[in-house]
Amino acid sequence: MDPVMRDFVIGGAGFIGSHLTGRLLQAGRGVTVFDNLSTGKRSFLRPYEGHPGFRFVRGDVLSLRALRSAMKGCGFVYHLAANADIMRAMKDPGLDFYQGVVATFYVLEAMRGLGLKPLVYFSGSGVYGDYGLRSIPEDAGPLRPQSMYGAAKLSSEAMISAYSHLYGIRAWIFRPANIIGPRPTHGVIYDFIRKLKRDPRRLAVLGDGSQSKSYLHVEDLLDAVFLAVRRARAPVNAFNVGSRTSVTVREIARVVAREMGLRRVRFDFGRGARGWKGDIPKVRLDIRRLSRLGWSPRLNSREAVVRCCREILGCEDRG
Ligand SMILES: NC(=O)c1ccc[n+]([C@@H]2O[C@H](COP(=O)([O-])OP(=O)(O)OC[C@H]3O[C@@H](n4cnc5c(N)ncnc54)[C@H](O)[C@@H]3O)[C@@H](O)[C@H]2O)c1
Repeated sequence: MDPVMRDFVIGGAGFIGSHLTGRLLQAGRGVTVFDNLSTGKRSFLRPYEGHPGFRFVRGDVLSLRALRSAMKGCGFVYHLAANADIMRAMKDPGLDFYQGVVATFYVLEAMRGLGLKPLVYFSGSGVYGDYGLRSIPEDAGPLRPQSMYGAAKLSSEAMISAYSHLYGIRAWIFRPANIIGPRPTHGVIYDFIRKLKRDPRRLAVLGDGSQSKSYLHVEDLLDAVFLAVRRARAPVNAFNVGSRTSVTVREIARVVAREMGLRRVRFDFGRGARGWKGDIPKVRLDIRRLSRLGWSPRLNSREAVVRCCREILGCEDRG
């Protein structure tokens, strides 16, 4: 396969990364997935095993040598690896520092060493901090993250900007809302389904259920990514990705229970508007920059939640 046509997907065995891998292969690209399988799973990649363009390398981003060697011969880099364990990160701030800041530095160093230029980075709305119900455009400021996760994403974006200026890296940075769909590794819907399978009579909810955010189906996210990469030509391009609608955690709890066919669930809500310290309870992302490129999500937040429940429950029922 032509090496320029091979993409390198770091974190490709995870939720978003495995869907991205599928879409890239479908588009005729070769894909090398690099993943340490900390939250990702080999089984997420099973649909692509045997595809002539697919290759899997088990490795850790924090080993620069392994990263560089696996990246050799690739053209486009997608970086999705990050710490997903929010609860553990609260007790250990070093987790986001190493898995976020240092990991992105190594990705950039590997690219610099190999002379690779294009990078797609999955950042997050955590870079903004708490803007309440104000709609946040990409150039909002000051940026005051309230978690190490958000701080690590913001630091990574800052390094990408510097590498772009210094070494000609071309970057597309995405700050997604809550992304949902089949093959989840974490998140509120996944959490509720797991808890209700264990005990169908009661559901403990983190926070008072009033947290309200935008939920976007993973296929809508990937449409946005491919469109932006095709159309946005600045050295560093940043995009919010979400829908214009939001749903509350309380509504999600009700939808999940209904989709599981459970009528008499007792919802035990926690106290306070935040699910955990560092959580931003209300987020409204301004998506006009992506809309101007011609993207809009196919599903609103509520539709995405319903579809995601059905997809997850459908997959599980099939074993
Ligand atoms: N899912 C969302 O709602 C959402 C929202 C905003 C941003 N993001 C970002 O998108 C990216 C992907 O998210 P996801 O939901 O697919 O998470 P995920 O945990 O399913 O995927 C991350 C993948 O990276 C791998 N990984 C982690 N550390 C690694 C390391 N040191 N070396 C090699 N591989 C490593 C994991 O095994 C996993 O396969 C993350 O950077 C996340 O912060 C996700």
